[in-house]
This record gives sequence, C-alpha cells and structure tokens, in this order.
Amino acid sequence: MAEGKRGVRASSYASEGVPGTRGKKGSESASGRPVYDTKVEKKANKFTTHYYQVKEVLTDKVLLESGVSRVAIIGGGVAGIVTARIFLDEGIDVTLYETTDKLAGVWAENYVGFGIQVPANLYEFPDEPLPSTWDFGAGIMIGNYVQQYAQKHGVDEITQFNTTVQEIQGDSDSGYKLVFEKAGKKSTADFDLVIVATGVYGKQDKFIPDWKGKENFQGEIIHCADFFDLDKTAGKDVVTIGFGKSAFDCAQISAQQAKTSTMLFREAHWCVPRKILGLVPFEYATFSRFGVACLQPAYIASGPFEKLIHGIPGFLSGFWWLVGQIFKNQFGIPKECLPTKGFIADFWGGHGIIPHPGFFPLVRSGKVKTQIGAIEEIKPKSVILGSGEEKPCDLIIAATGYRPTRTFLPKAVKELKEKDGLWLYRQMIHPDHPKLIFLNSEVTTFTNITTPSIQARWLVEMLAGNHKLPSTEDMRASIKETQAWKREVMPNAGASRASMIQTHQLHYYDQLLKDMGANIRRKIGGNPVVRAVKEILDPYRPGDFGTIVTGEFKYRPNEVVKAGGQSSFWKEGFYFVSGVAFLVWMGGVFKTGFKSQYGHLKTDDLLKMADVSKIVDTLKSLKSH
Ligand SMILES: Cc1cc2nc3c(=O)[nH]c(=O)nc-3n(C[C@H](O)[C@H](O)[C@H](O)COP(=O)(O)OP(=O)(O)OC[C@H]3O[C@@H](n4cnc5c(N)ncnc54)[C@H](O)[C@@H]3O)c2cc1C
Ligand SMILES: NC(=O)c1ccc[n+]([C@@H]2O[C@H](COP(=O)([O-])OP(=O)(O)OC[C@H]3O[C@@H](n4cnc5c(N)ncnc54)[C@H](OP(=O)(O)O)[C@@H]3O)[C@@H](O)[C@H]2O)c1
Repeated sequence: MAEGKRGVRASSYASEGVPGTRGKKGSESASGRPVYDTKVEKKANKFTTHYYQVKEVLTDKVLLESGVSRVAIIGGGVAGIVTARIFLDEGIDVTLYETTDKLAGVWAENYVGFGIQVPANLYEFPDEPLPSTWDFGAGIMIGNYVQQYAQKHGVDEITQFNTTVQEIQGDSDSGYKLVFEKAGKKSTADFDLVIVATGVYGKQDKFIPDWKGKENFQGEIIHCADFFDLDKTAGKDVVTIGFGKSAFDCAQISAQQAKTSTMLFREAHWCVPRKILGLVPFEYATFSRFGVACLQPAYIASGPFEKLIHGIPGFLSGFWWLVGQIFKNQFGIPKECLPTKGFIADFWGGHGIIPHPGFFPLVRSGKVKTQIGAIEEIKPKSVILGSGEEKPCDLIIAATGYRPTRTFLPKAVKELKEKDGLWLYRQMIHPDHPKLIFLNSEVTTFTNITTPSIQARWLVEMLAGNHKLPSTEDMRASIKETQAWKREVMPNAGASRASMIQTHQLHYYDQLLKDMGANIRRKIGGNPVVRAVKEILDPYRPGDFGTIVTGEFKYRPNEVVKAGGQSSFWKEGFYFVSGVAFLVWMGGVFKTGFKSQYGHLKTDDLLKMADVSKIVDTLKSLKSH
C-alpha cells in the first residue's frame, strides 16, 4: 500500500495494538473515527453459525498497516456476500448495502426458468460444495444456497436491506462518506474503505434499445430480467432480441406456450456444448491448465509450456478451427446461427453461451425460429425489420444485456473510464484511489463465485500487510502493460476490454495467489505423478480454492510459498512425462507378455477361452428379470 499520511497515523496505533498493550483509549482509524473496541480479545465473526474460526484474525493488522477500521460493501450478490464473510471472519467492522430486500443478486430473482449454465461444482462457494445432483441447477435453488451461505456466515446481520447507495463522497486519503437512501430517507455514513460489488448483469443496469415507434406498440416490451410470468407468452407472437444466453433461454421457454417464438439477433456467436462430442465435459478444455494454455492469445504472463505450444506455427489456429467445426457439427447449428467470426475472434467479444441441450432441436423442429436481423421500427402489432420484413408481434423480450453506469461513483473515478473500460490494477484497484475497490465488478470470468472469493482474500491480506501493493508508479506501469497487450490482441472486446479475462481466469487467479504467497499448484493429495496429471489435465474448480476463502492456506506448509518460490512447471512436466512413459512401458510389457502367452491362438480360440456363452447366459437372465 502506498505510504502516506495515513500510514504514519496508522503506525502510531501500532504500539497500542501489539499484544499486551491492547485496549488503550482513544484509538482511532486514520480518518479519525473510533475503531473497534480493542479490549475484545476475540474479534472473529460473532454472527456466524459456523464452527470454523480464523486462527489469527487480521483486525489489528488491517488497521495498523492500512488504517482501515470501517468497511462498506455495496451490493449483496455472491461477490458482496463472500467479501463480507471473509471480512467478518477477520473481525473487521463491515456494513453491506443492498438495494433490494434480498441477498443473492442476480440469483434472488431472474427470468422464468433461469439457472446455472455449468455443473454445480463450477458454481459454488469454494468452501461450501453443492451436491452434484444440482448440475445446471435452477436459479431459485442457487439463490437459496447463496442466501443460506450468507446467513450461515452472519452476512444478513450486517446488511442494510432496501438501501440504495446514491453517492460516494470523499477520497482514499480522507476517507469516504456514503450517501444512501432507504424508504425515501437519505442518510450518510463514513468509511475507510469502500468495496463496489454491484455486479455487471444486475437489474439496475438492464438495457433496452430505444426502438423507433415503441410508444405505439399495443403489445408489451420487457427486459428478460423482468420476464417472470410464462403465461404472458400464451398464444402470442413472441420475439426475443439478442444472441446471449438470456435470449436462448427466453426464446426456448417461450416456445412452450407462445403461438410463435422467434429469436432475432444482429450477429451469431459461438456456442459451447456441455460435453464436447457428447463425451468430455467442456471444463476439461476451458478450465484445465492444458486447456487454458491452448487459449489464444497466450496470457500476458504465460509460462514456458504455453510459450512452447504458442510457438508452433499454425498449431493452435488449426486446433481452434477444429474446435469450431466440432461444435458446429455437434449442435447441428443452422446456417443463420453460424458465427461469421472464428471461434477465438468471437470469444474475445465477451460471449460464452452454453445452450440448453433442447435448444437446437427446438430450432430444427421449427418451434423456435432463429433469424438474423434488427428492429427498424415498432408498429402497434408488429415489428419492421431492417430488411423491410414485417413480423407479427405481441411481446418483445429484450435479452439485450446490461450497461452498468454506477452513477454513485465519485466524479473523479467516473472520469477514469475509457472507451474500452476502467483499467485497474489486478482488476480491482486504481492507483489514485486505493481505498475504493472494485470486486467482481470490473472483471469477466466464467466461474463467478471463485473470482470474488479469491479477490476478497487477496484484498484482506493486502490490507493486513501480508502482501504489499506495488508503488503507484509500478501499478500504473502494470496497467499500461496489460492495456497495450489487450488493445493489441482483443480487437473485438469493445467497452468490456479492460475487464476481459474470460477463461484466462486461471492465470489471473495464479497472479493473485502468487501475490499473497499461496501455492498456485492446488491439486493437492495423491502421489506426485497423479498430482502432476491432475495439475495439467484436471479442470480447476471452486473447490480447489476452499482454504483461500477461509485463510487456512496460511497454516498449511504445502500451501504457503515464499515470493519467487512457486514450484516450476518443469517438475510437473517431468512427473507427467515419466507417468505417461511408465504407462506406455507397462502397455508394452503387457502386450509382449500377452503375445508370448496367447500369440499362437486365433480370435475364435480366445473367445472360447473367455467363455462367451456364459456371458450371454448371464445377460439373458438379467434381461428376463
Ligand atoms: C441469469 C443469469 C445467469 C448467470 N449464470 C452464470 C453462470 O452460470 N456462471 C457464472 O459464472 N456466471 C453466471 N452469471 C453471471 C452472474 O452475474 C455472476 O455469476 C454473479 O452472480 C455476479 O455476482 P455479483 O455479486 O458480482 O453481482 P450481482 O449478482 O449482480 O449483485 C449485485 C448486487 O448489488 C446490488 N446493487 C446494485 N447497485 C446498488 C446500489 N447502488 N446500492 C445498493 N445495492 C446495489 C444489486 O441489487 C445486487 O443485489 C449469470 C448471470 C445472469 C444474469
Ligand atoms: N447461466 C446462465 O444460464 C446464464 C443465463 C443468462 C445470462 N448469463 C450470463 O449473464 C451475462 C449476460 O448475458 P445476456 O444474454 O443477458 O446478455 P449478453 O450476453 O450481453 O447478450 C446481449 C445480446 O443483446 C444484443 N444486443 C445488445 N444491444 C442490442 C441492440 N441495440 N439491438 C439488438 N441487439 C442488441 C447483443 O448483440 P450483439 O452481440 O450483436 O452486440 C447480444 O446478443 C453473460 O455473461 C451470460 O453468460 C448466464
């Protein structure tokens, strides 16, 4: 953390904060506000119903090192919840502001039939596994799970519900004043640190294009986030706009009752199947170290193996072309839904759709119509497309995404936003505003509980001085380097470029773990060969980061790594190659042994030896049962 006035004042508290000299009166945070009652010895989460207690809470260190005693979190989605949980566990005074009457953010309420588009073990709190029967689970189930997690860790207790933050005043040096509104009444509160966890796909930011003639429409126009009642579609001509996951789902579910269901879009994007070729779960290709290493372009901080495979001319371009062909044929994608861009070029536009397996069969059966086009004008009972075609329409579902505005940010911060986004150090911190943190709100990844979980742990460890922020100049230099890289390799990323991480998320997690001295090799257990195979081929899932959330990693010798001490890839590479070589050798031995023993026999003789008739009899008897 940059040293300044605050560092000095915070340090003056140090002599009071050391064990044995606690509890002196008059202790205050850097901004002069009273701090936690330092007489209380045990400052861990007092609201939790959970048995686990942090070994050594960070309260004092956070105050000492960063002058932070009061923390505000804006937003009660998974990001705000997991951050509040971690801060509460560390005994830090935190208040969460949530504009609705519920926690869980997008999972509290969404369009009819919404759910996770991934297996349960990819969308869970790292320390709270979901049952595998919840794969691709319904949104309501996920919402309940998220709310239970919040309750278990006491997050409800520190949440101000129905409270909208309207303004953040002040700056990182003087502290922040939050102006919030509750039941029509405005109030303020002071904080040393403010965490913006307002998400990117929330209701407050829903976007509906300003179509010409919409005031004359006799039907209804709703954003997908407000599409709660399927009966609205009964007997209607429903047109869903967009080619994102929301559009797919809304067009698909509307087909149950609508007279016609059309998905109208400007551009098609690549879809990813739940299982590649119906066999391999997609996460093996996207979230394993091998899969991530193959992603083009290579990450800005990539390892030697990645450099190697990216150095083979044409190899990865061919690989991704093949992937596109496989997906195209596996889905039987109709012509109009075939993207014009290649898989990688489109991927960096920020799209990632895993359609419900029933979607394309419905398109083929004609129950869902997919059409390229855009609304030119809305008439009372129809829409006119750019092509001149007039389509009967009673209900328009705008699955047209979200445009976060964050009007509450200080003017100076709002002005930092460039055409391609807000550029932050580690996707969280602007060097000029180190006490205004963006948590999961300026980053796009695909396992969106893991990301804020790791970010929140990184943050609290940084505030406690367990790892340091680089100097302002170094942070600027790091941002500049990332900016130059992204601007060169992500031409289609538009306004989301700064936040774009996508499936390079594992690399991003590695960076955060390295910063805080945690082992990035998290496939723990088993012998070195099994570990190496898992490290390379097994997808990284939330569960691999459980001890990061709880902070237990700091007490596990095999999870702590000193700066510059991460085990090198070559060790794993060696074990992996040795393991494979051993298996090949064993296969050879087996083959030779088999040949010498049975090589003289013909296939018929071998079948006789296996006594096939017995197997047939067994199968027959099973069938008759
Ligand atoms: C339908 C749907 C399905 C999704 N499925 C997946 C998936 O399968 N996998 C995946 O990884 N991601 C998925 N996502 C992305 C999803 O947004 C993230 O997974 C994650 O839930 C985001 O959490 P969050 O806490 O960052 O934001 P949100 O859940 O958006 O929470 C933000 C909270 O901030 C509150 N808030 C906003 N402004 C204010 C204010 N001014 N004052 C007070 N409170 C405020 C909001 O009310 C909200 O509760 C999905 C998104 C949607 C919309
Ligand atoms: N787990 C799930 O099942 C699930 C469900 C829903 C959402 N999500 C996630 O939530 C996020 C948001 O998804 P989303 O589908 O709601 O939004 P999205 O991915 O942002 O897609 C928005 C769509 O609207 C189109 N659009 C935008 N402006 C338009 C305009 N003026 N006219 C016509 N079309 C316009 C875009 O078209 P262009 O591409 O042409 O710009 C795009 O196809 C994504 O990360 C998604 O993965 C997940």
